[in-house]
Amino acid sequence: MHEMKSRNIAPTQRLRGEFTVPGDKSISHRAIMFASLAEGESRVFGLLRGEDCLSTLGAFRSLGIEVVEKSDNELIIHGRGLAGLQEPTDVIDCGNSGTTMRLMSGILAAQPFFSVLTGDQYLRKRPMGRVIDPLTSMGARFLGRNAHTQAPLAIDGGGLEPVEYHSPIASAQVKSAVLLAGMQVDGATTVYEPHLSRDHSERMLRYFGADLESFPGGARVNGRVQLTGREVEIPGDISSAAFFLVAGLIVPDAEILVKNVGVNPTRSGVIEILQQMGGSIELTNQRELSGESVADLLVKSSQLHGIEIGGELIPRAIDEFPVISVAAAFAEGVTTIRDARELRVKETDRIAAMCECLGALDVNIEPLEDGMRIVGGELLTGGEVNSYGDHRIAMSMAIAGLGAAAEIKISDTACTETSFPGFWELLTLVSGGQEI
Ligand code: S3P
Repeated sequence: MHEMKSRNIAPTQRLRGEFTVPGDKSISHRAIMFASLAEGESRVFGLLRGEDCLSTLGAFRSLGIEVVEKSDNELIIHGRGLAGLQEPTDVIDCGNSGTTMRLMSGILAAQPFFSVLTGDQYLRKRPMGRVIDPLTSMGARFLGRNAHTQAPLAIDGGGLEPVEYHSPIASAQVKSAVLLAGMQVDGATTVYEPHLSRDHSERMLRYFGADLESFPGGARVNGRVQLTGREVEIPGDISSAAFFLVAGLIVPDAEILVKNVGVNPTRSGVIEILQQMGGSIELTNQRELSGESVADLLVKSSQLHGIEIGGELIPRAIDEFPVISVAAAFAEGVTTIRDARELRVKETDRIAAMCECLGALDVNIEPLEDGMRIVGGELLTGGEVNSYGDHRIAMSMAIAGLGAAAEIKISDTACTETSFPGFWELLTLVSGGQEI
């Protein structure tokens, strides 16, 4: 449990700076996992040292993987192959990390030993049936709370068969869990999804040598192909950059350059959404890094307007809706977000949380069953809000505070360590107008 720190954010007129944000969380998890399952050494550069990824690192250490921290920027992982993991002697704690718990479920379901996954008070409430169901259809044996849908989860691993799974939701965690189990058994495992969710697993598994194809509507892996250790360079996290993108748009005199940001099309929905709202965001210096697309993002103050958001854009921006709702509060007119029911089962119910938080600053915001409706353009008042222990709610409200009429106080802010160590320091530097 984090201690209950709180932060005050004062309004600001000016933002300047050229800076990078920490490594991509989704890609960092996968780098640790796939390097551990590969044969031989992998060197990983730019890994996110946030709490979620440290949970994944701890999990693999407890499975017998040696990890050497060469420097702040470089990690060496001594992979032991698909058959090299050892039975953990204790429960594996996934902390706040849904990605750790769901992807580890896929990996451990196929390993011939017993393991138990648990997490913090928030993660133990989140739905795990979405991975346990398809894994059970492959022959996996899971036990869990609440009719085997919530952690702690006990896994009696091994003895799986391949599967053809039609996922009812566009979820990279579900897709990855099934592919990671399928990768360890003979035969072809296929996952179909209603819209394309982030495809980092597919890209990085191929990069490590897996026999995996992506096609419109899904992905297929052929089992028991050996992965080989590689060098992986992790780009900056677009989900972390998103806070500064919105800050740069809503503060009256702002010009910032966020460098080295991952702009994989399955993740860059936030850029498209903010541009559709009238935001000035330019992509420069676009290049490839370990199979992922990367760019520098130049952002300038803009007058935003409301839009309608739904459909295939939703999974491509799923983690950014808290800060997109802040942008909408500063935009002229109505913004409607639909098809985003998944927001209700994130680190907290993000629809309820953002309606509470922005409502407390007198924003005209209304929850919808699968999204929200925001009437923007009125000045936000100061006030007090709570993060609900959710890192992205805390950081979104900090951005709202930069553009509000008076100071806001955010309670329970230590959770930003989950994905963005150094967030508050960077925000102070950028809003102080200093070059970084
Ligand atoms: C993630 C996938 C998304 C996202 C989460 C990270 C991943 O969840 O919200 O923060 O790394 O695969 P779903 O796949 O459940 O939508």
